[in-house]
Amino acid sequence: MNAAKFPEHFLWGCATSSFQIEGATTRDGRHPSIWDTFCSYPGKVADGATGDVACDHYHRMEEDVALMKQLGIDIYRFSISWPRVLTMDGELNRQGIDFYKRLLAVLKRNGIKACATLFHWDLPQHLQDIGGWTNREVVAEFVNYAEKMFRELDDDVHQWITINEPSVISVLGYINGIHAPGIRDLKKAMRVSHHLMVAHALAVRKYRELGLTGEIGITLNFNHYEPYDKANPNDVIVSNRMDALWNRQYLDLLFRAQYPEDLLAWLAEKDAVPEMEEGDLQLISEKIDFLGVNYYSRNKQKYDPEQDGILETYTCNDSDANVNALNWEVYPKGLYYEIVRVHEQYRQLPVYITENGGAFTDDVLSQDGQVHDWQRIDYLQSHFAEAKKMIDDGVDLRGYYVWSLLDNFEWHMGYGPRFGLFYVDYDSQERIWKDSAIWYKAFIHDQKAT
Ligand code: GCO
Repeated sequence: MNAAKFPEHFLWGCATSSFQIEGATTRDGRHPSIWDTFCSYPGKVADGATGDVACDHYHRMEEDVALMKQLGIDIYRFSISWPRVLTMDGELNRQGIDFYKRLLAVLKRNGIKACATLFHWDLPQHLQDIGGWTNREVVAEFVNYAEKMFRELDDDVHQWITINEPSVISVLGYINGIHAPGIRDLKKAMRVSHHLMVAHALAVRKYRELGLTGEIGITLNFNHYEPYDKANPNDVIVSNRMDALWNRQYLDLLFRAQYPEDLLAWLAEKDAVPEMEEGDLQLISEKIDFLGVNYYSRNKQKYDPEQDGILETYTCNDSDANVNALNWEVYPKGLYYEIVRVHEQYRQLPVYITENGGAFTDDVLSQDGQVHDWQRIDYLQSHFAEAKKMIDDGVDLRGYYVWSLLDNFEWHMGYGPRFGLFYVDYDSQERIWKDSAIWYKAFIHDQKAT
């Protein structure tokens, strides 16, 4: 495996999230999240799947960390379940927080750094009952939660991520409604997005006020948008709109203290410009220590006013496109383009790829009891090459966390799509090394060989 050598202290890792792997949704004082509620609505999640068991990670955590150790990863990105660690009146739930203290202790014992995401979508349901992220009061609830996590866990956390993917929370949860809480309202979506960014910034400010010296940042999901037909003005318009809504909204807020002008113009036509308080934009643009980037695919946008009545577009791949099992185009150059755009047009700051991966059609258990997922190996190799290229071109890329360690609950798609390096037999909860896990182990080993 003659992979190009990454910088000596580059961090190779894996990523997961609490609702997707933990299970134990009623154990030790955990109360419902919006995803527990969403799963209970008929037809919202494939096969009526829930997070009640998932990968049973809550009870198998030590076994899973042992797999990470065998892989040889440097860092493990996980998320903290807000409804597990705080009571409904915002006080610490000691049993809940003790799970994460145990996780951090086991990671430390195995020489694996911890990257903790504060919010990976499992909002406590009782906060949704007062409007969720449309209600600015939830921002203060988040800062209370963040402060308690900083005080309890910071000693053993290498880096903190405040919010995972504000674009996905806003667009999938509040525009097309396929994610919890399943609302379809552009004005509410923009209020949610603005409050998420204020919450992010106030958590960063709290971290600084506490005098803590770790790294703190945010994770954005970048889709690489292009018009399906460059000669069709409507396709160009909707592609630029999605780039503004999904990507540039957050980059402009974080690094320019503004919303993109083209986005504001479109939102004004829709009476959906978010209300802002004095100082919000300056606050949101306060310094972060790194940018987390999740990247999966290119999205070729086609204009269709009937599609969803709000965004008037959908992703339409070329007939010969290389796609994964979910019809997401495999387009490694998009990873390079999106991160180099940050470097060249916004800010030259440390970047971590905090998710990259896919679900593929060869994620099946073969007769030999193995999973020969060569599509995932090809996918990772081609994206690693783009990561190395951007480092050679001057980007301060410092880490790469494969999504995901385990097959897990893929939100509205349930357990069908398998993103893991380890195959999970959901009946027995057995973890089975896929060929990609064997490959990743050898890749990391080679990277560290002198
Ligand atoms: C995301 C989320 C993950 C997903 C993964 C596959 O980026 O959407 O962070 O929770 O499971 O990306 O869709």
